[in-house]
Amino acid sequence: MSAPGFTEVFSHLLEEYREGRAAPPFQAKVDTRFYTDPAWFEKEKAALFSDGPILVGHVAMLKSNGDTFTHDHLGKPIMVVRAGDGEIRAFLNVCRHRGVRLVNSDEVINKTSFVCPYHNWTYGLDGALKHIPLHEESFAGLDAQCHSLKALPLAICEGLIFVNPDPLGSIDLEKHMGMVKADFAAFGMADHVFFRQTVTTLKTNWKLLVDAFQDGYHVTRLHRKTVGPHFIDVVSRSERSGDHLLSVVARNEFADALDLPPEQWDLRRQASCAMYLFPNVEMIIHPDYISYLAFFPTKVDETVVVHGCFIEEEPQNEKARAHWERAFDIIENGVFRPEDYFVCEQAQIGMSSGANSHLLLGAHETGVKAFHDLLAEKMGPYLAE
Ligand code: FES
Ligand SMILES: [Fe+2]
Repeated sequence: MSAPGFTEVFSHLLEEYREGRAAPPFQAKVDTRFYTDPAWFEKEKAALFSDGPILVGHVAMLKSNGDTFTHDHLGKPIMVVRAGDGEIRAFLNVCRHRGVRLVNSDEVINKTSFVCPYHNWTYGLDGALKHIPLHEESFAGLDAQCHSLKALPLAICEGLIFVNPDPLGSIDLEKHMGMVKADFAAFGMADHVFFRQTVTTLKTNWKLLVDAFQDGYHVTRLHRKTVGPHFIDVVSRSERSGDHLLSVVARNEFADALDLPPEQWDLRRQASCAMYLFPNVEMIIHPDYISYLAFFPTKVDETVVVHGCFIEEEPQNEKARAHWERAFDIIENGVFRPEDYFVCEQAQIGMSSGANSHLLLGAHETGVKAFHDLLAEKMGPYLAE
């Protein structure tokens, strides 16, 4: 099965390339305070990150009943657990007695119950309050059902786990994912195996990171000593799909597709496909694995980046494991950190310096413009107070 959305963008890019069409001249200005204004930042957090589906992981991260991971990057302590019935659920990681955190681990951890360290109130994997020490003496008549862990709306699409951080909110993934669900299905997202992820705090506004991953202009320049030589300069295209953006960047093998019928196009070898998944995720479809970057805004000039990697099957031996460790290390420590993350942190310093009242976007940065247009649609245009 081919990925319908990406195939369409690929075909449009191929058409442009065949006809030698140049990108029409274009210039847009963006107020630098878009990235430095604390009041606007608070509006973004409220509008985009407080009540809607946010990607927190993949079903492959929770292999066994009782497997649990925590997620604190939305400003709330969240835990996601595969309960005793195999269902995946999300709760606030908060004891209902006096609010203490229940699970403290950066890794996936297997639990049979959640025992609060403070006074040992104990909850089942389904969130139900199971035991209160000295119950009869201290809390006689307490209604345990009213003191279950606070559940969060959760839904799964093609193996990807989305949580709404608002306990009173809802999730409609059919609507949210729309057509991109078929693209994830085509790449076998649900059947992938979780390999590993890293969490990094960067001194940059979250939108500069999305900008960088929507930008086809920098690939052969910033990355000239690393991945840049694999790509044709500024042959790239981004298109909207619902609230998301599908980007195709031509690899050196792109021209091979000119003489082939669509069913023989190889999107993963002739191009690099990446998806901006609203509001804060970049999924990257590599030739033989899928990675994602999730950008969680913590301050106007600080972002937590989760970089995760999914492969098609469990490594069968040490050699295979070492191969994937190396692949992850090269992209994380050889490309993203020294190149993309570096320029985002530097741009944040530049934005705050007063050197520029505006930044400029040109004809080869329409992917960045498309991201900004999408935000403007959701929040209205940026207006300095
Ligand atoms: S705060 Fe959790 S048992 Fe008291
Ligand atoms: Fe880059």
